[in-house]
Amino acid sequence: MNVELYERIWMWAAVMLIVLFAGTVIVTAASDAVHPPSHMETVDPQALADNPEFSNPSVTIRQDGSVVVSVVAQMFSFSPNPIEVPANRPVTFRLTSSDVDHGFEIVGSNANAMAIPGYVSQFTVTFTKPGTYTIGCNEYCGLMHHDMAGTLVVKDGESSR
Ligand code: CUA
Repeated sequence: MNVELYERIWMWAAVMLIVLFAGTVIVTAASDAVHPPSHMETVDPQALADNPEFSNPSVTIRQDGSVVVSVVAQMFSFSPNPIEVPANRPVTFRLTSSDVDHGFEIVGSNANAMAIPGYVSQFTVTFTKPGTYTIGCNEYCGLMHHDMAGTLVVKDGESSR
């Protein structure tokens, strides 16, 4: 069978692109600890006001020193806001939504999850660089989606505890 030279070139180019894309996924998954969500927990989105955790979403420090941040996303804000956490300590985020699907991406980190009504998204991150980070909603959620943002403040000086 005769395959034209140009066709051959394009076939190889397509194969190389697929290898490149698949490789990018594998490399970033390994190097940046990017992985699909694995936490499965439900919550009644209609009853968040009566929920002991999500009626007053806040930052709590457990007895072992680990930090838990409960977050409720709603059109078009996150609460609490700002979120203040210490540097160099594992911070577990627990997100849910009271209305529609929202995104929760901490710009400049690998923290990126969805806040889905009825579910609790959970992941743990350790921030090594103190500073102010923007939290963006990256799921289209309505007319003011582009305005939906929060602030994360990572504070230094807690690493000795
Ligand atoms: Cu919330 Cu887009």
